[in-house]
Amino acid sequence: MTEDHHPGGQPGVTRRFVDADSNRAASRSWWDRDADAYQAEHGDFLGAVDFVWCPEGLREADAHLLGPVAGLRILEVGCGAAACSRWLATQGAEPVALDLSAGMLRHARAQADETGVRVPLVQADAVRLPVPDGAFDLAFTAFGAVPFVDDSAAVMREVHRGLKPGGRWVFAVTHPMRWIFLDDPGEGGLVAVHSYFDRRPYVEYDETGSPTYVEHHRTLGDRVRELVGAGFILDDIIEPEWPAGHEQIWGQWSPLRGRVFPGTAIFVSHRP
Ligand SMILES: C[S@@+](CC[C@H](N)C(=O)[O-])C[C@H]1O[C@@H](n2cnc3c(N)ncnc32)[C@H](O)[C@@H]1O
Repeated sequence: MTEDHHPGGQPGVTRRFVDADSNRAASRSWWDRDADAYQAEHGDFLGAVDFVWCPEGLREADAHLLGPVAGLRILEVGCGAAACSRWLATQGAEPVALDLSAGMLRHARAQADETGVRVPLVQADAVRLPVPDGAFDLAFTAFGAVPFVDDSAAVMREVHRGLKPGGRWVFAVTHPMRWIFLDDPGEGGLVAVHSYFDRRPYVEYDETGSPTYVEHHRTLGDRVRELVGAGFILDDIIEPEWPAGHEQIWGQWSPLRGRVFPGTAIFVSHRP
């Protein structure tokens, strides 16, 4: 991430608030345009029928953050190509995979054809889930939706509404402390340059000034307040450590940085 500020005819990067409609439009077209590149770059790491929580390589098969899943109705929010949902289907669960981006869901359909593992796919915005109240036993996301909406508290409320009492909600996001650094996997990414308390989103914009990519920050306390405010009980915050021997860089996530501070926070909660 560089911090160019070139308003007036030039594309650039800044921190500024963006209204919800512009945010949604930017996210949809960004992930539609980026879907092929994202899958080309990360598809092998994520697998086609596999559940990887984060660039640190933590797998649900080892972490068991969702608990036993066989027979459960599960909602994946911001599924991308839906590899996690397909893996859950092979474990006897009944997942539904939801994403805002038609481009990402096209990859989900292609991977279903390739693997023969099919799950229902839904195109929708996480801030307005098209699901009946109490329809799911469990919900989760690995880096989907939550950092890309202006009102992540609304996502928490919508997931809470869609879950049965007792249902777990587990979501992985970039660890809040990463906000203070540049998105640089190397030495440049070890120096604090931004305020942790600056909630203005990271925005890339085109030559007309329209946002093309919007990513939001919440402090750790903000995330907890949004969860608790929606009615969840917070059970754990997992900060996966960078495993020895894992050398694969994913954007700003690298062994160099991973050895020093966390890159991912996974919030484990449930609806009482
Ligand atoms: C970083 S990708 C993660 C995808 C997948 N979970 C993975 O691990 O590869 C973020 C995903 O969130 C989706 N997304 C962004 N905003 C969303 C929204 N408002 N509602 C639902 N999905 C959204 C994007 O389309 C994209 O597929």
